[in-house]
Amino acid sequence: MKIQIINGPNLNLLGKREPGIYGSEGFEPYLETLKSLFPEIEISYFQSNVEGEMINKLHEVGFDYDGIVMNAGAYTHTSVALCDAIAAIKTPVIEVHISNVYSRESFRHHSMMAKSCKGVITGFGLKSYELAIRSFL
Ligand code: DQA
Repeated sequence: MKIQIINGPNLNLLGKREPGIYGSEGFEPYLETLKSLFPEIEISYFQSNVEGEMINKLHEVGFDYDGIVMNAGAYTHTSVALCDAIAAIKTPVIEVHISNVYSRESFRHHSMMAKSCKGVITGFGLKSYELAIRSFL
C-alpha cells in the first residue's frame, strides 16, 4: 500500500510555529514515528508553501497511490484550485488538521476541499495523520 502525505504552507515550521496551537514536535521526526507504526505501508512525504506545487503532487500521485493525507494549511479555506485537483484525481484524499479548526476563528470553519475528500480529521494534534492512515487500512 502506498500513501502520500502532502503538507501545505507554513507546515515546514511545525515545532517552531505557534507551539501552543500546533505543538513542539517537527514533522520530520513525527514521520519516523508514523513509518514505525505502519511498517507495511510505503509512506511518502511532500511539503510545499506553493499552491501549484501541491497541485502538481496531487496530479503525480493521484492515479496510482492508494491514499493521500493532505493538510493544505490555510489553502484549505481559500483554494478552488486544490478543490478541483482533488475532484480530478482517482486516489481518495483525507483532509487533516492538527488543530481543531472549529474551535478557532470563523474563517477556518469552512473548507473549500472537504466536499471532494473522503473525510476530514481535525483537532488531534499530529495524531490526526495517524488516524487518517488507519482509516485507509
Ligand atoms: C491547519 C489549520 C489551518 O487553519 C491553518 O491555516 C494551518 C494549519 C492545522 O493543521 O490545524 O496552517 O491546517
